[in-house]
Amino acid sequence: MGRLVIEGGRRIDGEFALQGAKNAVLPILAATVLNGGKNIVYNCPELSDVSSTIEVLENLGCKVVRHQNILEVDSSDMNSHTIPERLMRKMRSSIIFLGAIIARCKKACVSMPGGCEIGQRPIDLHLKALRALGIEITESHGYINCVADKITGADIHLDFPSVGATENIMLAACTADGITTIENAAREPEIMDLQNFLNRMGARISGGGGSVIRIEGVKKLSGVEHTIMPDRIVAGTYLAAAAATKGQIILNGADCTHMSAILNLLSDMGCRIYREEARVILTANRRLLAAATVKTMPYPGFPTDIQSPFMALAAIADGTTIFIENIFENRYQHVDELVRMGADIRLDGRCAVVVGAERLTGANVVAKELRGGAALVVAGLAADGITTIENTKYIDRGYERIEDYLALSGAKITRKE
Ligand code: EPZ
Repeated sequence: MGRLVIEGGRRIDGEFALQGAKNAVLPILAATVLNGGKNIVYNCPELSDVSSTIEVLENLGCKVVRHQNILEVDSSDMNSHTIPERLMRKMRSSIIFLGAIIARCKKACVSMPGGCEIGQRPIDLHLKALRALGIEITESHGYINCVADKITGADIHLDFPSVGATENIMLAACTADGITTIENAAREPEIMDLQNFLNRMGARISGGGGSVIRIEGVKKLSGVEHTIMPDRIVAGTYLAAAAATKGQIILNGADCTHMSAILNLLSDMGCRIYREEARVILTANRRLLAAATVKTMPYPGFPTDIQSPFMALAAIADGTTIFIENIFENRYQHVDELVRMGADIRLDGRCAVVVGAERLTGANVVAKELRGGAALVVAGLAADGITTIENTKYIDRGYERIEDYLALSGAKITRKE
């Protein structure tokens, strides 16, 4: 299962290039099945979720060649429209293939994605929207079967600005007959990256990044080359690591315009932030101040994915912080592990009250999910003594070689298989 061993109390002081965004590359790789051509994706992060997505592509009959951070995907010989249970259970966000497979094959059969460690993760908004596009969907025996004689553009309103549902609609509607509008669309920057990728292949999409997206169906799409945007959540995690250890970090390639909520909170907590065109610099030279309240919201609000790493910061800040997790119903599994390290955190439903301690102490802790595992890394870097973090498989889903980047930045961290 693998574990990380950290000897805490050392300043982070480093500079490196930020990895490509996991939540941009996954839908973009799904989109490669649309054009039946050759695609080259640059700045593709080396993550286990990307490997799982490559498995799905190959299962569909696509050819994938990876050269470190460059991925070549040829979808011309796609010969299947199904994603088996084994692959869906491995990574439930493979549901993002649904819209793309239906658009290419006019049918799709995928195993129900089910929930995951952080919540039930329903897909009702995805299915309601796809049905509005004229797709017939039946759910039986744990599978979702989709058939469409043709896909017809429609006006769709999302009850919640779901990232995945927005992406599935964009993928399904690219080659629909007519125009599709999405009202109350997700505004995350990863949606903009997907829009850019699709338009580069010949789609006609506008409004990405805003609440209303317009998709004009086209007949033909072709293979493209694209560079994945930088990962704002990984950036926030490394900024937190530097802040937690009174250190400094320079993240080259960061796009500060995607990170306002994160950077503003770090400033409020007493960090010095330098926002540049294509990098961000953080220095912290004293104990952080607690921010009064942190509420997770859809973009551009404070991102749910960075809630747990920032709770590790709050655990050693001067004062009390109240977290309110509004997006996922089970995203506090890191709390018990932080408490084992001496954190003072009390839970009440979606609220977590964190009273900052002078310091944390190293302990044996267990990662229960991706971002909660990252929170334990941040806490371990700041804690006195040795912290071991079990279940690195969760962390590896979203962070490229986390121990290498941190060791290069002054941390004493090793991976033990
Ligand atoms: C994406 O998940 C991200 N994953 C998540 O990142 C991220 O936390 C989330 O967006 C919110 O920003 C990827 O992009 C691969 P949603 P997604 O649909 O699309 C409810 C990480 O750590 N909902 O916006 O699944 C849902 O239950 C991961 O990198 C419905 O009720 O998020 C949740 O409460 C974790 N019905 C809320 O909406 C639906 O049909 C947000 O979900 C769909 C969603």
